Amino acid sequence: MNEYNYIIVGSGIAGLYTSLLAREHGTVLILTKGSIDECNTKYAQGGIAAAIGQGDSAELHFRDTMAAGAGLCDPEAVRLLVEEAPDRITDLVNFGVPFDTLNGEVALTREAAHSVPRILHAGGDATGEHIEVTLSRMARLAKVTILEHFLATEIIVEDGVAKGVRALDCSSGSFEEFGSKSVILATGGGGGLFKFTTNPEIATGDGIALAYRAGAEITDMEFFQFHPTALRLPGVTRCLISEAVRGEGGILRNEEGRQFMFDYSPDGDLAPRDIVARGILSEMRKTGSDRVFLDVTHLPSRKISARFPHIYRFCLDHGLNITKSLIPVSPAAHYMMGGVKTNVWGETNIAGLFAAGEAACTGVHGANRLASNSLLEVVVFAKRILERTGKASRPSKRARRRREQDYVSLSDREATGAVPALSLPAFQSLMWDKVGIVRSGEELEKAASILASWQETLKKPSDRPSYELSDMILVGRLMAEAALIREESRGAHFRTDFPEPLPAWQRHIVFRKTD
Ligand code: FAD
Ligand code: SIN
Repeated sequence: MNEYNYIIVGSGIAGLYTSLLAREHGTVLILTKGSIDECNTKYAQGGIAAAIGQGDSAELHFRDTMAAGAGLCDPEAVRLLVEEAPDRITDLVNFGVPFDTLNGEVALTREAAHSVPRILHAGGDATGEHIEVTLSRMARLAKVTILEHFLATEIIVEDGVAKGVRALDCSSGSFEEFGSKSVILATGGGGGLFKFTTNPEIATGDGIALAYRAGAEITDMEFFQFHPTALRLPGVTRCLISEAVRGEGGILRNEEGRQFMFDYSPDGDLAPRDIVARGILSEMRKTGSDRVFLDVTHLPSRKISARFPHIYRFCLDHGLNITKSLIPVSPAAHYMMGGVKTNVWGETNIAGLFAAGEAACTGVHGANRLASNSLLEVVVFAKRILERTGKASRPSKRARRRREQDYVSLSDREATGAVPALSLPAFQSLMWDKVGIVRSGEELEKAASILASWQETLKKPSDRPSYELSDMILVGRLMAEAALIREESRGAHFRTDFPEPLPAWQRHIVFRKTD
């Protein structure tokens, strides 16, 4: 078995940034299932939040993050997030990320539910691409070993301690094992579980499935964020239309041309994402349409093309000049708040196993993530993983457990109705229809039962698509079961049969496998 000081699974911002810090402490291997830049990170538009502007403070950022999280954020984790943000931004600048400036100062934009402009961006709306390109170049220069097209299929655990990773070489079809005392999951999110998503194809929740099978605790899976505004043009990929477009003055209008968001929230177009997504869905139903429109035609056209060059160009290439015409949009699956449960040092409950980035649940997002806090979460908590592993010869045995929580495990389910034939589109439609933006106990029951039946019929995976499908079904089950258990509405989790938040539910649902 090839041994490394660190094994990192994934090459988005979490994998790359962690690798650069880890390289100072020893040998580092990155395994990534596609080419290095196939990841959510590359598509990030709005930017990265940090309280560095005039009139802003860590305290204000703390309050906004806590409010968005709807009672389920871990205050200690949020405090670290907002206080360590400026230093981590400096790290990114030192690595070479070219954040935009205005009159010699870092340019800051505003997104929903932030009380002041505090989002740094790069290349206008190409923040993620700049981060990905900069960090991957640095990782290659730092002589991090990077194996592309290697799919992690198992975390090797012996006597409760992570020892390495088993992976499929997708080019040759053979399996290899790699050993390390520190295994870091940086596998990203799971937008690919849903029919409509802003995420690229790699986002299949693999890290959650790998960790669950290895015995790690998985939490907050009922909280999945749907972005209100993905481009809805026939036959065109769901390109995100950044929230920053509304932050710069864009207005949502329904089929009839009426601005409608003030019917749903006093914050109008800049209300929290879950409220805007549900508002759009309700307008679509009222008007019998599959879209609403984002209007930027009243803004100076030079400002639009300069501030959002990627969105402007993408739409123009598909025949839509957004400075002159309304942009058709509808909600799409975007960000997974839940994930592998970690403490504030990125440690899971398995010694030697860490999680970073969207795959992790550090406690900063609670029931709903504040825009542009995810890139920030990655850099703040990745740094902390290295502070812990760099100092201690061995990671501590158990993660701290302070949050109020209920432990559950996935149990067998009887199929209660007809089970449709399993295919990826059938799975994604089921998740979208029954475990999506608006949920009910009845539909969740059906989804959970079908998912359990599908899981039983799965053959042993042998290649990347079959591993991904098997992982997605497991992760879909964790989402559906958690959503079923949480009989209330809170943050991104909305149930028509329990439409209000309940004080008794100010707690977390944690899954762990029982043998
Ligand atoms: P990713 O960047 O998704 O990387 C995951 C990596 O893991 C990939 O390399 C993948 O190939 C690899 N991988 C997965 N499974 C396996 C496996 N089994 N074996 C090997 N490799 C594997 N957040 C913000 O803060 N600000 C924004 O402006 C913003 N805009 C966004 C716009 C879009 C369109 C999207 C989709 C997301 C946006 N987000 C934004 C969210 C943010 O981009 C992500 O949360 C963040 O980039 C996640 O980084 P990551 O490194 O954890 O995961
Ligand atoms: C966006 O630009 O709207 C996405 C920002 C985010 O998801 O944080």
